[in-house]
Amino acid sequence: MKKEKIWQGRIQSDPDSLAEKFTASISTDINLYMQDLTGTAAYAIGLESIGIINGDEKKKILSGLKKIRENIEKEKICPGKYEDVHSLVEYELCALAGDAAGKVHTGRSRNDQIVTDELLFIKESAAEAISFIISLLDAILKKAGSCAGLVMPAYTHMQKAQPVLVSHYLLSYYEKFSRNCKKLIQVFEDSDWLPLGAAACAGSGYGLNTNLLAELLKFKRTGKNSMDIVSSRDYLIDYIYCCTMIMLNLGRFCEDLIIYSSQEFSCADICEKFCTGSSIMPQKKNPDILELIRGKSAVVAGSLTQIITLVKGLPSTYNSDMQEDKKILFNAKKETLDSIEIFIRVLEHTEFKAFSIEDKMPEGYMEATDAADYLVKKGQSFRSAHHIIGKIVRYCIKNNMKLSDIPVKKLKEYSPYFESDFYASISLKSCINSKITSCGTSEKSVMNNISKNTKELDKLKKTLNNLYSRIPDFDELTGN
Ligand code: ARG
Repeated sequence: MKKEKIWQGRIQSDPDSLAEKFTASISTDINLYMQDLTGTAAYAIGLESIGIINGDEKKKILSGLKKIRENIEKEKICPGKYEDVHSLVEYELCALAGDAAGKVHTGRSRNDQIVTDELLFIKESAAEAISFIISLLDAILKKAGSCAGLVMPAYTHMQKAQPVLVSHYLLSYYEKFSRNCKKLIQVFEDSDWLPLGAAACAGSGYGLNTNLLAELLKFKRTGKNSMDIVSSRDYLIDYIYCCTMIMLNLGRFCEDLIIYSSQEFSCADICEKFCTGSSIMPQKKNPDILELIRGKSAVVAGSLTQIITLVKGLPSTYNSDMQEDKKILFNAKKETLDSIEIFIRVLEHTEFKAFSIEDKMPEGYMEATDAADYLVKKGQSFRSAHHIIGKIVRYCIKNNMKLSDIPVKKLKEYSPYFESDFYASISLKSCINSKITSCGTSEKSVMNNISKNTKELDKLKKTLNNLYSRIPDFDELTGN
């Protein structure tokens, strides 16, 4: 099918059919139709304000744009006959607004137009990702609140290290995702500038009122250098970097839950609704969703490499390589948001199980650090306390005993500081509550952090509402 071209003139011959198919981007950038319509509506208002079009022409253009939106949404337009979303809007507008449509590209290029579309999209997508992360943070806080008192082993080097509260473990992920959220807010702020006026690369030959355009499109500031404006894709790299960080964090969370739900660890139970069986082994309950999220984290991390490599070594200003950026962006965004959404469900349907000291705790001698701390509090230096407890642990392993099984008399052979209060100091509760630093696992610190995070989350929700109010609305612009 012959596609409508907005750049005919210099090039007379019809494009080679394969070349035409190869260069078209409509199947991807049609996803930016709302942004393209919004940018064009603001541009038309801007053109009227400097007398390039008159009030009547502006009206025709705005109502034409509204009709195009409706036609796209009702599938009355066949996007496939256009090269890209910009051509679609301009050609469809010709049919609806007549000669006025031919003026709408005055002083504008697809090079600054696509950056406008992308920045509008990134602001929306950052807000969307923030709202997903807020739901995830909410779910983590709820789960942490519901696990009060439950204890699990913390592992270092995948070896049992020290007992911690399950809620403390969960809150460790709150921190990671809260940082991701703050980076996304920064991405929103860094994407809050107007590219229009840059045109192809040198700037526009018309006295565009860029401040008015920025105001209409709710951009905080105007771009400062036309060559930079059409050549940079930092904002995409930043957004995809955030997606990647979110996926790395999610992937690690998933990996934890996969391990913890295994029979060997059995400290988490994932609801059957989120697991699958095996076609051959009747006993299996596999944590597929978590594995898939872990797999998708590779796909999204790959997008970051793709977008960075796309920009690497490009000569200044616009190059067609950049057209590929949207596939990378859309894919990274979709995989990330889909993963967050399903992960929240899985987390809500995962039950954490308590560890009992008799059952799982003795194996790793996780109270050994507390035993050393006991001696330090009695006057021993930490290094010698460490050596003494190390020797006692060896003795316990050899004799198949727990630390608390050894009588004081025997303990005194290792250090005179041992008294009968030793046993209470290495109880599970005491191990937990002795970690009194504000970042530690004591019940008090954890409770404190839950209430601090709850307040922080409320603030984040307010910030998100503010971000939403800084995204332009097509209906508002076109006078609905
Ligand atoms: N379709 C292009 C993109 O997505 C926008 C048009 C760029 N300009 C050009 N002369 N090809 O990046």
